[in-house]
Amino acid sequence: MLRRLHATQPESFAFTEANRAWAQAQVTKYPEGRQASAIIPLLWRAQEQEGWLSRPAIEYVADMLGMAHIRALEVASFYFMFQLQPVGSVAHIQICGTTSCMICGAEDLVAVCKELINEKPHELSADGKFSWEEVECLGACANAPMAQIGKDYYEDLTAEKFRELMAELAAGRVPVPGPQNGRYAAEPLSGLTSLTEHESGKTQYNASAQRAVDLGDTIKRIDGEEVPLITPWLGKSKANVAPKKAAAKPPAKPAQKKAASAEAAKTVKEKKPRTMAKPRKAGADDLKQLKGVGPKLETTLNELGIWHYDQVAKWGPAEIKWVDERLKFKGRIERDDWIAQAKILAEGGKTAFSKKVEKGGVYDED
Ligand code: FES
Repeated sequence: MLRRLHATQPESFAFTEANRAWAQAQVTKYPEGRQASAIIPLLWRAQEQEGWLSRPAIEYVADMLGMAHIRALEVASFYFMFQLQPVGSVAHIQICGTTSCMICGAEDLVAVCKELINEKPHELSADGKFSWEEVECLGACANAPMAQIGKDYYEDLTAEKFRELMAELAAGRVPVPGPQNGRYAAEPLSGLTSLTEHESGKTQYNASAQRAVDLGDTIKRIDGEEVPLITPWLGKSKANVAPKKAAAKPPAKPAQKKAASAEAAKTVKEKKPRTMAKPRKAGADDLKQLKGVGPKLETTLNELGIWHYDQVAKWGPAEIKWVDERLKFKGRIERDDWIAQAKILAEGGKTAFSKKVEKGGVYDED
């Protein structure tokens, strides 16, 4: 199968603040000059955040690691675990099609995928909620046939049971992973014949399914706020390398935090910032030197009447909201902190990103 970048790409990519802190921490595991070794975990986190790897995401990770873009693209296109095309907004279904699963009914599961999702693998369902593919053995052969949905395994499937799972997922619920035929784990269907003394110490589900239930991230997109950033390899004194802002007080629980920021966003009324019909005589600033602004976004900003760094530097929350409402990808301004970047550039300074752009060889799309 040819593994190529998807024909339609977003203009840019950026890690959330927490994912960026996590990614920066991973890089510290490797000796100076060997940062590229962190390529796979960083690409994986980018995929966990967005569901798939776009070209801007691959290049963003390459830039973080000081690698040529093509090197990161080689890794992303080599490993099948990286999705190079958009996946379902609810879940990407991976049906095991290797021997045990195939003998036990994988073809029936594939038929359900074709019927409910799309005739072709790697294509989205009509509502955009699901995508599917057939994969090689996922190592759960004793529980064939099985599917990986998001992060977890659903085992001992039948076409009927699989349809029920799909209906649950489509309704916004996450069924409990693990065996779906009443088996506890991978013991004989007729019950245990040995080690029966451990029966009394059993948790509700087997260890894998229990962990999946406890974490609750089977099909969740990861923004980095799920668990505290722990860096034991840095020793106690540097146990947490999260940004100071986040370390100053215990982070709010994700749900609280999201609710608070959504509440705050609601209360800010948008206000049109100062715009200009055309740039000043000396010419427009290169807005692509702002991290997160690519050529398309620059054109959009120009069309809104924004040509110069000092215009951006003056935006407050109300102006940010006005501009954000008019951009295709929301939240970009705050996520990449355009204001702080613009202040530096407006005063004639340079940012690490603007230096790279000036040198060339860096895509402006983040
Ligand atoms: S053959 Fe399907 S998990 Fe191994």
